[in-house]
Amino acid sequence: MCGIVGYTGTEAAKDILIDGLKRLEYRGYDSAGVALERAEAASASGCALDIHRRVGKVAGLESELACLDTASTCGIGHTRWATHGRPSVPNAHPHTSCDGRIAIVHNGIIENFAELREELERRGHRFASDTDTEVFAHLIEEAYEGRPADPATGEQAAPGCHDLLAAVREACAHVVGAYGLAAVCADEPGVIAVARKDSPIIIGRGEHGSYVASDVIAVIDATRDVVVLEDGQFARLAPEGITYTDADGAAIEPAVTHIDWDIDMAEKGGYPDFMLKEILEQPRVVRDTLVGRMGPAGELDIDELGLSLEELNLIDRVYVIACGTSYHAGLIAKNLIEGWARIPCEVEAASEFRYRNPIITPSTLVVAVSQSGETADTLAAIRDARIKGAKVFGITNVVGSPVARESDGVIYTKANKEIAVASTKSFIGQVVSLTLLALLLAQVKYRLTVGQVRMLFRELGDTAEQIQWILDTQTDAIHAAAEACCDAHSALFVGRGMGAAIANEGALKLKEISYLHAEAYAAGEMKHGPIALIDPGFPVIAVATKSPVYDKTVSNLKECEARGAKIIVVATEGDEDIREIADHVIYIPAVRDAFSAITATVPLQLLAREVALMRGCDVDQPRNLAKSVTVE
Ligand code: F6R
Repeated sequence: MCGIVGYTGTEAAKDILIDGLKRLEYRGYDSAGVALERAEAASASGCALDIHRRVGKVAGLESELACLDTASTCGIGHTRWATHGRPSVPNAHPHTSCDGRIAIVHNGIIENFAELREELERRGHRFASDTDTEVFAHLIEEAYEGRPADPATGEQAAPGCHDLLAAVREACAHVVGAYGLAAVCADEPGVIAVARKDSPIIIGRGEHGSYVASDVIAVIDATRDVVVLEDGQFARLAPEGITYTDADGAAIEPAVTHIDWDIDMAEKGGYPDFMLKEILEQPRVVRDTLVGRMGPAGELDIDELGLSLEELNLIDRVYVIACGTSYHAGLIAKNLIEGWARIPCEVEAASEFRYRNPIITPSTLVVAVSQSGETADTLAAIRDARIKGAKVFGITNVVGSPVARESDGVIYTKANKEIAVASTKSFIGQVVSLTLLALLLAQVKYRLTVGQVRMLFRELGDTAEQIQWILDTQTDAIHAAAEACCDAHSALFVGRGMGAAIANEGALKLKEISYLHAEAYAAGEMKHGPIALIDPGFPVIAVATKSPVYDKTVSNLKECEARGAKIIVVATEGDEDIREIADHVIYIPAVRDAFSAITATVPLQLLAREVALMRGCDVDQPRNLAKSVTVE
């Protein structure tokens, strides 16, 4: 996703920025840009800023800058992953104030940008992009240069502070949302002002100057002693040093952290593998996927849908088409779409759908789910469905991917780039996005009231903390469960209702990264065949959270216990009775059944990873698998 790098010192800023942006490429982005102070234009009253922006890879920007003969020693750079506004040069960062003398780069989302933009336009500001970020440039400009009176609100004119850091602080006071921000101003050569709220920023001092970045990887060659800025803290970087303040402008002295990771570990954020890093990011994925989705009157806002509410109201059949883990997200969605919106929903492997003759009418909605957005089977199924007259809606993690381009509308999961081959955080982003879609369908069909939708939306948001609780408290239990099954030849994952859908994802995770054979079964189906597999010590991994089918699931587990199975249960916190049949219990917080997939999948991902590590497997790059499956 988006990345920030900035430098001020004695070396060539252009090279340092490009090098840092390349280091941030792994996060995924669609455009890149830099703002460089034009040293040649420097005088006592300031300098000028050169802005260079390109859609596509950093290499393109690098070629453009190669022709630029500059002695600039201060600048900021950015890789953008589109959220508000398509990938384009005007939407790429840096964004500038009206007079071009202030430039900023920003990570995060400004929730109140629409109202801020309206106010700023009323006061005469001209916008050049569709982004939320640009309001920051104009807010800083007003704080720096002075604000005209606003007849609409009766606000008086205010004088400018002519201090970049103070202007950034003032601008932040108006913004609701998340930001990691770096700003430069032509009137203050060599100065970079930095702010942070809910979006990472690190700052470091090296031999040749001062550095800012959204990820330590971008500056690790220059310095290993960094300040990890906290929410509400601000910094002023200059060639000679760095000062820090709080939101009131009072000086502070944040602690310095020494980074002793190597480059490989730094790319992984200090974690031993990408899979763990990505599992730990899941609370953020939930939060980011929900940002801006609830309108002020409690109505859901998914305007990228490409369908009017009237068209949505006519939908009478939904197909979810996808492959692998994305298909499992579809199994969860079926429960929600049928349960809340009362619309029949079928989930099909895209590779099957394309060769069938499914019943499709103009009131059929096909939802194509794909992390990479380029899975060949899913794309072929989209094309087929559109030819047959269906509306197609894509859910993908990759901006501008073929799935996004070829669908009538799209929701982007806010997972950031996923590097481990086994999908983890993308799955959570998909399930949250599909849950939003199910709520929207229920809302337009008047199956749920606005109050119910609002309550469910709030509970959906609570899953972020619930995942965090699992990550914080259950690692020992998961490790013990992994030890209990790592030497097995085969394992069964079982559950009922939502639990059955989750079991599918648990089994896929285990088999693909540990090479231990695993199957998922609806627990009630065990006695119709699979129970024959069970002999003493055979691992049965169950999702048995407190749900309407809890007692039924427990009965099925007793049948397995009676035949000597080793039973590992994902259960609801506080369920002590389950210990009577379970050899190992992993708890998740109590959660509405509809949202249990978002939490109960997390321990199964961690379990698969632990087992794979115990078996000596490469968890990030399992054999025979590719991250994007672009062949049939
Ligand atoms: C499993 C996994 C795969 C993908 C499948 C579809 O962890 O990652 O099963 O889910 O290949 O890929 P996308 O979602 O990119 O279409």
